[in-house]
Amino acid sequence: MDSIATITTMDTDIKQQILDLKRERGAIILAHYYQRPEIQDLADYIGDSLALAQIATRLKEDVVVMCGVHFMAETVKVLCPDKTVLIPAPEAGCSLADSCPAEDFEVLVKAHPDATVISYVNTSAEVKALSDILVTSSNALKIVDSLPKDTKIIFGPDHNLGNYVASQTGRDMIIWDGACHVHEQFSLSKLIELKKTHPGARVLVHPECPRPIVMLADKVGSTAALLNYAAESDAHEFLVATESGILHQMQLKCPDKTFIPVPPEDGTCACNNCSYMKLITLERLRDCLKNLTPTVEVDPAIANRARRPIDAMLALS
Ligand code: 13P
Ligand code: SF4
Repeated sequence: MDSIATITTMDTDIKQQILDLKRERGAIILAHYYQRPEIQDLADYIGDSLALAQIATRLKEDVVVMCGVHFMAETVKVLCPDKTVLIPAPEAGCSLADSCPAEDFEVLVKAHPDATVISYVNTSAEVKALSDILVTSSNALKIVDSLPKDTKIIFGPDHNLGNYVASQTGRDMIIWDGACHVHEQFSLSKLIELKKTHPGARVLVHPECPRPIVMLADKVGSTAALLNYAAESDAHEFLVATESGILHQMQLKCPDKTFIPVPPEDGTCACNNCSYMKLITLERLRDCLKNLTPTVEVDPAIANRARRPIDAMLALS
């Protein structure tokens, strides 16, 4: 993989080509916070999963480029079935979404016909179609709390987020045993070491992280929530336990503060990257706008069923 920080003259040319093509195509570019910095800088909107879904409901443009992983582009297509939805790297999957195959999830759902099925947005359209309400990491607590106390809940697919929500809301939930390979990898011992060497630093943790990491957090939240906390905090140093793409916006929003990525357990890498998110490069974004492909398609019958839990989430957010 090429360096995500290197800015070259060629990059500048490609950026201009992207802006020109975007104008010609009447397109809009959405990007998740985990994208490469140069992709974030070109996007019309950058956001967490919830913000990107909310923005998708308000778009006027006929062509939408989703710089994120496949389930994010699927969500946009479900919300905007008449638009051309492009994804520069269609193979950009998600280990968490992959940990919950729809046919297996359906067995669990059918075994508990009296349960309300709450699914994290990091799922395929097929899993969404089996769900009653979707959540993201920014609204999961609020949505689960909004349900009557005696509601039987199936929560999938992230066991870390599910356990966090259960612990915060006091709900007894049936939790799918899925996980994100990026957030599972943060090293507890290295975080403890960093806390010793940076005693004034606040610890920012995404709820997809395992419980021992979450327990050391000063703030647990979605990418947007962690970014806002850093901006509003009076602290000057932060230890960040989520995918390293968010550091770009943190540094832009808080140029005088220091953000230190919490490293993964193995390897020599100092930060934790989602290889799927980093598949999108300037070249692939340019080619996608030039060729108006790859598009994201969702079977209309699945899309109709997946739309209901997304709408339910948006109404409760
Ligand atoms: P949020 O942006 O909702 O915090 O999600 C993180 C994530 O893992 C997206 O894939
Ligand atoms: Fe999926 Fe994890 Fe990558 Fe997010 S960071 S897209 S949950 S693999």
